[in-house]
Amino acid sequence: MAEKVVLVVGGGGREHALCMELSRSKHVTELHCAPGNAGTSSLATNHPISASDIEGLLDLTKNINADLVVVGPEAPLCAALADRLEQMKVPCFGPVSKLANLEGSKLHAKQVMRAANVPTAPFHVLSKGSDIDAALDDFSGHPWVVKRDVLAGGKGVVVTKDRTEAYSFIQSSIEKDGQVLLEDFLPGEEASMLVIMDGSGFVCLPASQDHKRAYDGDKGPNTGGMGAYCPAPVVSDIVHQRTVETIIKPMHDYLLSTGTPYRGVLYVGLMIPDSGRPNVVEFNVRFGDPECQITLPLLKTDLYEVLAAASSDRLAEIDVQFHDMFTATVVLAAEGYPESPVKGRPIQGSLEPIQSDGVSAWVNHAGTGFDEQGQLISTGGRVLSCSASGPTLEASVKLAYELIESIELDGSHYRGDIAFRALSTP
Ligand code: AMP
Ligand code: GLY
Repeated sequence: MAEKVVLVVGGGGREHALCMELSRSKHVTELHCAPGNAGTSSLATNHPISASDIEGLLDLTKNINADLVVVGPEAPLCAALADRLEQMKVPCFGPVSKLANLEGSKLHAKQVMRAANVPTAPFHVLSKGSDIDAALDDFSGHPWVVKRDVLAGGKGVVVTKDRTEAYSFIQSSIEKDGQVLLEDFLPGEEASMLVIMDGSGFVCLPASQDHKRAYDGDKGPNTGGMGAYCPAPVVSDIVHQRTVETIIKPMHDYLLSTGTPYRGVLYVGLMIPDSGRPNVVEFNVRFGDPECQITLPLLKTDLYEVLAAASSDRLAEIDVQFHDMFTATVVLAAEGYPESPVKGRPIQGSLEPIQSDGVSAWVNHAGTGFDEQGQLISTGGRVLSCSASGPTLEASVKLAYELIESIELDGSHYRGDIAFRALSTP
């Protein structure tokens, strides 16, 4: 057994989930997290270095003599953290900046999909002087989908039936960014497929479904994600097979043809219409949050082995296996989230894991920290999530809700209908 030092970059629920699985690895003897949160502090050594402080992260990597750096969020990848680690010959789970641009620029992602012949919505690129009315007429009869071509932290997309709103978002985006995308609306049900990739191959993790709107019934503003469950039945065997044949394999081939292997996880946001022929809504170059929290627990193979293999083009050599279980997670959001979350409030009640009839539930910390008295407090919009894993989706969802009901945070809210699509499927 080798003794490995691992650094996880980031400080949200996704990074707590990564630390939880890595702390169970038989290979990992030292775990570090930068900056981490209250949850990671009990599994790893937290370092007060922001995920956007590339120089600070490189110094830390050297100081702790890391064998592997696992990058949670997209921003440090777009800012070339993986490129710099490659120069230092430190294995990194997360792609180099030119490949991370698949998330950094929606136009680039569209151009790659076109080049790789991957199904996605038709689109227009609009800039100063473009005929906005003609473009809106071209995609009329649906809601309009307008996407800014920048990393906008989930706030760069407007889907609207209101022509004036679409028009003004197009205009303001052109003013800010120089150009903007107008996409045809894709009907259907969304699902997230996380695909671990390297130069030797790829492994699809079980598909999940996120709940992006703030309130029950998919109402209210868009958020980073209010809950998720896995596996998502909308990705049936045939949909899975088509996704691999028409999207994942062509993308892997295309990325290989660029001459630089994609070493990390490609998040494929799918839209699955009634025909069962999936389209790509978006690519992200990282694990989804909260999809990560409910996907990693289904991995039977040691997570360190998978991530270390993918960071050095050895993925094809390992047999990645999964548990036949169902997971769900429910996000506890701060008062005012997503518009203006209230931070710094005490979190009380029981955060201890619970078990019942073969189901386990636990807390994934996200925006949590400690105040000067050592009291657990909220520090972000998505504060934590309660996750569960069990032999049926119903049982996992039930226990996740039981756990969240035991936690108190003034003004907080959570959705009461996580996994409703799967649970209402006959
Ligand atoms: P994105 O940031 O590209 O994932 O877009 C945010 C959300 O907007 C997605 O999760 C979808 O719900 C919705 N969306 C984006 N593009 C489309 C599209 N072409 N058709 C329908 N909905 C879309
Ligand atoms: N849960 C959606 C995302 O991570 O982008």
